[in-house]
Amino acid sequence: MNPSDRIAALRAEIEAHNYAYYVQDSPTVPDAHYDKLLRELEALEAEHPHLVTPESPTQRVGAPAQDGFATVQHEIPMLSLGNAFNAEELTQFVQRVSDRLDKAGSQSEPAFCCEPKLDGIAIALHYEAGRLVRAATRGDGAAGEDITANVRTIPSVPLKLRGNDWPAWLEVRGEVYMPRAGFTALNERALAHNEKTYMNPRNAASGSLRQLNPAITRQRPLEFCAYGWGLIREPVKPLPDSQFERLRLFHEWGLRINPEMQRLQGLHELLAYYDRLAEVRDDLPYEIDGIVYKVDAIIQQDLLGFVSRAPRWAIAHKFPAQEALTVLDKIDFQIGRTGAVTPVARLQPVQVGGVTVSNATLHNMDEIARLDLHEGDTVIVHRAGDVIPKVLGAVVERRPADARRVPLPDSCPICDAPITREEGEVVARCTGGVTCGAQRLEALKHFVARRAMDIDGVGEKLLQALVDRQWVMHFSDLFRLTREQLLDLERMGEKSADNVLSSLEASKQTTLPRFLFALGIREVGETTARNLARYFGTLDRLMAAGVEELEAVPDVGPIMARHIQSFFHQEHNREEIEALIGLGVHWPAEVADSTVALPLSGQTWVVTGKLETASRDQVKADLQALGARVAGSVSAQTDCLIAGPGAGSKLKRAEELGVAVIDEATWLARRADYRGEEAAT
Ligand code: IVH
Repeated sequence: MNPSDRIAALRAEIEAHNYAYYVQDSPTVPDAHYDKLLRELEALEAEHPHLVTPESPTQRVGAPAQDGFATVQHEIPMLSLGNAFNAEELTQFVQRVSDRLDKAGSQSEPAFCCEPKLDGIAIALHYEAGRLVRAATRGDGAAGEDITANVRTIPSVPLKLRGNDWPAWLEVRGEVYMPRAGFTALNERALAHNEKTYMNPRNAASGSLRQLNPAITRQRPLEFCAYGWGLIREPVKPLPDSQFERLRLFHEWGLRINPEMQRLQGLHELLAYYDRLAEVRDDLPYEIDGIVYKVDAIIQQDLLGFVSRAPRWAIAHKFPAQEALTVLDKIDFQIGRTGAVTPVARLQPVQVGGVTVSNATLHNMDEIARLDLHEGDTVIVHRAGDVIPKVLGAVVERRPADARRVPLPDSCPICDAPITREEGEVVARCTGGVTCGAQRLEALKHFVARRAMDIDGVGEKLLQALVDRQWVMHFSDLFRLTREQLLDLERMGEKSADNVLSSLEASKQTTLPRFLFALGIREVGETTARNLARYFGTLDRLMAAGVEELEAVPDVGPIMARHIQSFFHQEHNREEIEALIGLGVHWPAEVADSTVALPLSGQTWVVTGKLETASRDQVKADLQALGARVAGSVSAQTDCLIAGPGAGSKLKRAEELGVAVIDEATWLARRADYRGEEAAT
């Protein structure tokens, strides 16, 4: 086949696949096959540049970036639509249409072409001799902007119409929109690159269409759907006299139309259509904000005509808005059961998505910063379906002069304990633990757990009852419970009460590691509790330890050391420990052993290269748990280097210095040895 024929064959095949995929929603070939065809076409066109045409599927980005957009006058104005906000207003519309048609002597029960109202941007496409020659935004209805280069990048906009029975000049009108999935992916990508995100798919579609560089528009997941027309000249055959049939013809010419489009008659059918789409609204792959009903017979459309800027023959029946503007009065901070601090927006009550919204979670401080929220701002609130309301952003132009930024509070609004946020952590936390009303129940559950104080028979339900009666505000209050109090609780018989009391009594004899674990110091798990107990021997020595000394304990890094020190520095914690001991909590003495605590104590290890079975951080944690210090670089002090594939300068240095080097498999075997496990085979 000569190149010109092959090129023609490739174009025809690619266009057929495009039509199936973008217009009919039924892909015919796997993506990989499609890509192969496109690449072959690109290669042939590169070899034979004189065979390139503007309509070739390779030419969707052919234009360089522009300085701005030229103005396009609409030969027929692009109108807007009147709205109906409820069934009554729709009823009135249908009545008005019937009355007018009656008076004009036309059939008075008209059929309607019904479609979802897409939430995007209206555009006009000009086809001359079947070729896309211009695309324009609606603008003010009389004139819009020339966005041809951008629109050419939208795959569902045909560059060339199919068939040959189209008018010499055809202006197609419709909506450019961004499907939800593409919108989410676009925003996720933007977030990951620290770039600006769009508030909703509509803004994203609009922003994408108004890019001066079409190469950027091409990367945006935009779609086009036709719902009408403008100027039509020199039809080769008479066009159908129905809106519905005309759009079906457009579909045959390669334009996408809405798959939900239906021709219906009578108010009852229109309302049923509305209800059905309202029901599936949140499951559609794109956002819609209502239904558009258009009188189907074009002759009736002409009879009805226009009022000011909207046709009398069409109306938009709106769904309840999923977005609304309101004022952010205040940002409060809520404390979760684990101490996590969550900012909450207090909003002036507003109707959105069918309910009144006056609060919305803001998740964390980063979110407040990302949305640049100030108290006093006018904000956009979104609520769809059963989803919790969300603040999308502030309308910065409306920010009052006295709007206030809100910093993370220093202390907990419930218990007044310090709030901290560790470097690199998103979540801030209240350090109050059991003394904080919000965290009490969780802290108590941890305290009584089997691996902590092991208080049998005291479970969540009982703890909740004790907290509700304010009998247990601190751990120590558990040991002050009386038989009378317990018997006063619902469903607590004498036998159960006695069991609880004897469990409590038995739990007083514990071990130092269990006691330390039970206190619920942040980051201190069982292993660390054991290491701390072994290293310091006594609680007094541990409580007096400084950060540096704490860091010498196997498995304790700088962040944990600070947590531990700050815990024991807080007066209420010291008092609580004293109270517990005063009530009889005791443990056998530990033999302090800060020298030979763990197999790798005193050793310095380095990890480098790619590891197969675990992340490098995990290996480091394992090394630390075995007592090793893990360093970032190899020196004469290094005892051993674990080197995975791709190890570079560190491996070289280790070899120069004669430092022991082992691979990952050897490390795993040694680790099993140290831990007294059977080596993995
Ligand atoms: S018909 C004269 N049909 O809604 C008729 N408009 O509020 C003009 N829209 O500017 C429009 N989906 O951007 C029509 N199926 C649909 C629509 C639709 C969305 C938008 C369009 C228009 C606005 C009018």
